[in-house]
Amino acid sequence: MSNFENGKKSKLAELKNNPVKVMALIYPYILVIGVGIGLFYLAKVNDIQKQTLPPVLKDSLAQVPGDLNVELPKTVPQADVMALSQPSDSLVAAGKALFNTNCVSCHGVNGKGDGVAAAALKPSPRNFTSKDGWINGPKISGIFKTLSEGIKGSAMVAFDTFTPQQKFALAQYIRAAFVPNPPQDAKEELTELSQTYHLSQEQKSPGQIPIADAMVLVNRDAGAKYQKIMDALNMINKNSNDNGAAIFNKITSDKIKALTMLSSTDEWKNNEQTFVDLIVDELNEAGFNDKVHELSNSEWDSFYNYISKVL
Ligand code: HEC
Repeated sequence: MSNFENGKKSKLAELKNNPVKVMALIYPYILVIGVGIGLFYLAKVNDIQKQTLPPVLKDSLAQVPGDLNVELPKTVPQADVMALSQPSDSLVAAGKALFNTNCVSCHGVNGKGDGVAAAALKPSPRNFTSKDGWINGPKISGIFKTLSEGIKGSAMVAFDTFTPQQKFALAQYIRAAFVPNPPQDAKEELTELSQTYHLSQEQKSPGQIPIADAMVLVNRDAGAKYQKIMDALNMINKNSNDNGAAIFNKITSDKIKALTMLSSTDEWKNNEQTFVDLIVDELNEAGFNDKVHELSNSEWDSFYNYISKVL
């Protein structure tokens, strides 16, 4: 064995018997590792914090329902109640398609009132296979009423965008598929149904436009009205020598208010008495003053003629 190896061996042997020396030897390494971890932590402290789960905050804006769609005015065709209340395969098929898209979430595919949304609902959706608990009943007329008006105090809302034909189709499907021995409507019940919902006449449903567009129209309209009032005011200021303009200046306490009131309605345009009544009735609230009462008939005439021209 060489001297070198001997020396190494004896050093190791010495260390074994002296744990304090071992500590002293490895202490610098522990220190370096410890400080290293510390520095790493400091450098990453932002990321480490970010990895903790943030509190769940719902975005309230995301819950605002979408704006309305453009819908053109529609003509709802008249419905022949007697024909539509006869069971027919094509109506049942149309009803099934409508039911599967619009109703199963609550009433379930088998009509047992066990759709995915049902558990949370009180009262729970009707079980069509049971005779119990019906409010309007499973006759065609009853189901039609339910679909037209909804059931107050429950999740069953009115499906009033459906045409009468679609409502009959749904009624036919529910009765054919789920209701055991569905009871028949008496002829009088069908006649009454037709009358109540004006089914024998064509009906018009109004169109709708998105609220955002409606606001633009409202603002545009308000802008036009404002412009009209300002034009009238400029005219009156320019014509201050005109008898009508002089009267206006004399009997108003707030010119813009007075012009706004007068431009808010056309009622007075064909009738001087209406014009006089309007001003006398509203007087102070409408920007006029007590001097109104001093006007002679001929002054009223020239005032009326003048305002008819500028507004
Ligand atoms: C959001 C859930 C929900 C949806 C969707 C729904 N319903 Fe209902 N429906 C109910 C609830 C709840 C009731 C029970 C109301 C009660 O008992 O007061 C009900 C009751 C009914 C009744 C029984 C009325 C009576 O006379 O008691 C009919 C018929 C009906 N729904 C048809 C439909 C049809 C057809 C559709 C699809 C176009 C539909 N429902 C969609 C929740 C729903």
